[in-house]
Amino acid sequence: MPAELLNGVDALAREHAVARAAELLRGGLLVAFPTETVYGLGADALNPAAIAAAFDAKGRPADNPLIVHVHGLEALVRCAVPDAIASERLARIAAAFMPGPITVVLPAAPAIPAIARAGLPTVALRIPDHPLALELLAATGPLVAPSANRSGRPSPTTAAHVFEDLADRIAAVLDGGPCRVGLESTVLDLSADRPAILRPGEIDAAAIERVLGEDLAARGTGADRPKAPGMKYRHYAPAARVRLLLGRQLPKPASLPVGCMVLTTPRHAERFDGCDVRSLRADTLYALFREADLRGLREIVIYAEPDELSDALLDRVRKAAEG
Ligand code: TXA
Ligand code: MG
Repeated sequence: MPAELLNGVDALAREHAVARAAELLRGGLLVAFPTETVYGLGADALNPAAIAAAFDAKGRPADNPLIVHVHGLEALVRCAVPDAIASERLARIAAAFMPGPITVVLPAAPAIPAIARAGLPTVALRIPDHPLALELLAATGPLVAPSANRSGRPSPTTAAHVFEDLADRIAAVLDGGPCRVGLESTVLDLSADRPAILRPGEIDAAAIERVLGEDLAARGTGADRPKAPGMKYRHYAPAARVRLLLGRQLPKPASLPVGCMVLTTPRHAERFDGCDVRSLRADTLYALFREADLRGLREIVIYAEPDELSDALLDRVRKAAEG
């Protein structure tokens, strides 16, 4: 049976949509839901069988841990050890950024099933800043929610993207329209001696350092610090070759294939006359990668000055070009 589409956009339908999503999740089934970053594939975070089903639906390796989502700070308390919950660092991050597009890694409370953590002693926790996600989480309790794509595909930023990848593998999709941010949350490790960003997102290092009043460790370094396990896997890259030209000499338009898709900023757009020029922005990047794959494009050119792009956008276009 294909997934139910639950309409969370229409003001008159949303209450029913959230209630139905919660009912399915409480029954151990999988429901994708919107967050401000990307759509998540929700499963009951206290039900190991439901979590296993989420790994299965995505085709995700079992050693890549999931993020546990909760609706508020009260709910966070039961997910990590008391010392970590009481820490000054968490208090500062929570006051400044939660709910919001940030995930914190803390020493896990025993209540969090090992399968969600891929056996690690730590757990990744996030309070998403999206009204539908928060209403849903208030009704269900903690949900694991990896991005709602098949492993190796771009994260979904619309309900239609979720259907493309998972229609016959999950119970329902709660449609909340397009996601505001479009790239996954910042993952901030607060479990080691020095805080570090394991995955860049909209909330950047400078903002976090300001709030913490201390420098972050260089990304993913420190003998005591495992990187985000997800970082070791090949990241999504479109089937098309991605030619990444950051601050380099502009290619002569004549050297580009006819109709070639070019992602760039408004400043440079007119230099690519005759190409299929699109905006290089966080909120539409993954949708454009999906479109390129759907159309079977051979090449995507990405052009910008590096200082025009956020850390998060730079990180994702670099990964797409490496693939
Ligand atoms: O914006 C987001 O974070 C989205 C939305 C749905 O909330 N979720 C998301 O989940 O991107 P996922 O599973 O696609 O990515 C989770 C990342 C992976 O890189 C994973 O390795 C890392 O978080 N992670 C999870 N638990 C961790 C832990 N205990 N220690 C270090 N990294 C962890
Ligand atoms: Mg993902």
